[in-house]
Amino acid sequence: MPKQSPDRITIRRPDDWHLHLRDGAMMEAVTPLSAAHFARAIIMPNLIPPVITGAQAGAYRDRILAALPEGSDFQPLMTCYLTEDTDPDDLARAYEDNIITAVKLYPAGATTNSASGVSDFDKVRPVLERMADIGLPLCVHGEVTDPNIDIFDREAVFIDKVLKPIRKKVPDLKVIMEHVTTENAVDYVRDSRSNLAATITTHHLIINRNHILAGGIKPHYYCLPVAKREKHRIALVAAAISGDKRFFLGTDSAPHTDANKLLPCGCAGCFTAINTMSCLAEVFDAAGAMDKLENFTSLAGPRYYGLAPNEDTITLIKGEPAIYPDHVDTADGPVTVFDPGFPLHWRVA
Ligand code: DOR
Ligand code: ZN
Repeated sequence: MPKQSPDRITIRRPDDWHLHLRDGAMMEAVTPLSAAHFARAIIMPNLIPPVITGAQAGAYRDRILAALPEGSDFQPLMTCYLTEDTDPDDLARAYEDNIITAVKLYPAGATTNSASGVSDFDKVRPVLERMADIGLPLCVHGEVTDPNIDIFDREAVFIDKVLKPIRKKVPDLKVIMEHVTTENAVDYVRDSRSNLAATITTHHLIINRNHILAGGIKPHYYCLPVAKREKHRIALVAAAISGDKRFFLGTDSAPHTDANKLLPCGCAGCFTAINTMSCLAEVFDAAGAMDKLENFTSLAGPRYYGLAPNEDTITLIKGEPAIYPDHVDTADGPVTVFDPGFPLHWRVA
């Protein structure tokens, strides 16, 4: 149980079940920032070129470990990027050797660096069946890419057209529907009996589509899946604070330089690695649900992945608004930090 008073709470150390660390200079700048609060993170494989094989995942893990500050015990939990040519034996070996924790499914063209993703889901069925056999989880970017489907409907259509058929054909596959953004997804996860959970990002608990588009376009709020109507944000908050073990934190913190965000065709992603715990505490406190924060950030995720929760703890304190930098400098250029649009009274002690 969390130790709690109105202005102080101690919870098990959190994990981030969906994180982009990139590579090179960007990785070096952002990795220590996630490691400051989080014990573990599921690392997204959408590099250029993507991390497809077990050997590539192992090499990427070594580069991440080398970017950690002295003495950090942060554990990157690696993923392989599923393609139509993925070799099931390679994945099985990497899982057995503890190199990967999950596999990532991007529908081809759905988001940043997803061109090598899956177009024909029948082609990956043998891989999915093998994963189900050995208990290797599938993390899913749940959006269809059909240009005829409205971008605000792409998650709901994905559930009906892609995810339901996959789960019907491979019922033992352990699935994580990542960064859910709709009431439809929340309901679908709630109604499922087993082998389905969802991550929710920090930013989708805070912004709706008006924040992106009303009163001038805000590129720093543009991410994928794009934030939806307010009723969907409310459904996400309700799921996050419910204590339901099938919903847990995956920040999807996705750093892009300002130069790449502020383009006529700017990149998708919100960078929340530094202020996520403050933002979440604010959201949970406003909902009168501080007692459910630990489940969301520190318990439900490891439980679904079959891992033990972290032994160590963090303490959050409420007081004068915490000051975060508005951007982080990297050798590639500045990266703007997510602005929740309200003061953050909670901070990690
Ligand atoms: O907003 C996003 N950014 N969504 C994704 O799915 C990918 C990510 C990225 O890699 O930048
Ligand atoms: Zn992501």
